[in-house]
Amino acid sequence: MSKNITKKAPPRSYVIRNGRVTASQKKSIKENWSEFGVDPKKTAFKEIFPNNSRIIVEVGFGSGENLLHLSEDQNSLHFLGIEVYTSGIGALIRRAKKRGVLNLKVINHDARNLFNNFIAKESLEAVLIFHPDPWPKRKHNKRRLVNDLFIKNIHKTLKRGGFLYFKTDSLDYFKKVNLKLNNVQGLKKIKIEELPIFLQSIPKSKYESKAITNKNQVNYLTYTKS
Ligand SMILES: C[S@@+](CC[C@H](N)C(=O)[O-])C[C@H]1O[C@@H](n2cnc3c(N)ncnc32)[C@H](O)[C@@H]1O
Repeated sequence: MSKNITKKAPPRSYVIRNGRVTASQKKSIKENWSEFGVDPKKTAFKEIFPNNSRIIVEVGFGSGENLLHLSEDQNSLHFLGIEVYTSGIGALIRRAKKRGVLNLKVINHDARNLFNNFIAKESLEAVLIFHPDPWPKRKHNKRRLVNDLFIKNIHKTLKRGGFLYFKTDSLDYFKKVNLKLNNVQGLKKIKIEELPIFLQSIPKSKYESKAITNKNQVNYLTYTKS
């Protein structure tokens, strides 16, 4: 008789907080989803943007300040935001609509699944992961977004010469991700000055400003796919 081997799914890197979605965020989703939202069950990755688009993905964009800035600043590039937090999506697409942004799409889904089986191989110019939830308690460390499989999938989806830019105000998370990334063949550590200028000059998000006010040092890691 064969054994019933049920592999436990890894714990989620987030807690759903849909209770906090404001009326205006809900309205924004209703009105703007058809323009900015992508349902990965109905749309293939290559259909999201025109052929040969240069695509940058931000994982866990929170309220979307970085993406709003980038999509306005770099209108020849295309930006895809992945976020599980509905209120952040509502806030971002409301502002994007107001400002007439045309090069931005969002997906409301767990980024780990999308990098595993939705985003095409060698399709991304850059992956941005800014301040993923730090899960500081040791017993919760396994919930951290950036694990070995996620790194492997990021590597797979980056184009040759593409960039991975990771920032965190958790020293422990920084050290662990640094060790992991240094062991990935085909990812080369670079100085921040080697990133394209527009990635070096992204304004601080609310989360990052708060970290700095609280005297939590922000550390970053920058890599390129060789
Ligand atoms: C601490 S916030 C940082 C927001 C933003 N990146 C910034 O720097 O201000 C982390 C965000 O990651 C999102 N997140 C966590 N796990 C995720 C996952 N598996 N897929 C997509 N988003 C995720 C959370 O919902 C949250 O909005």
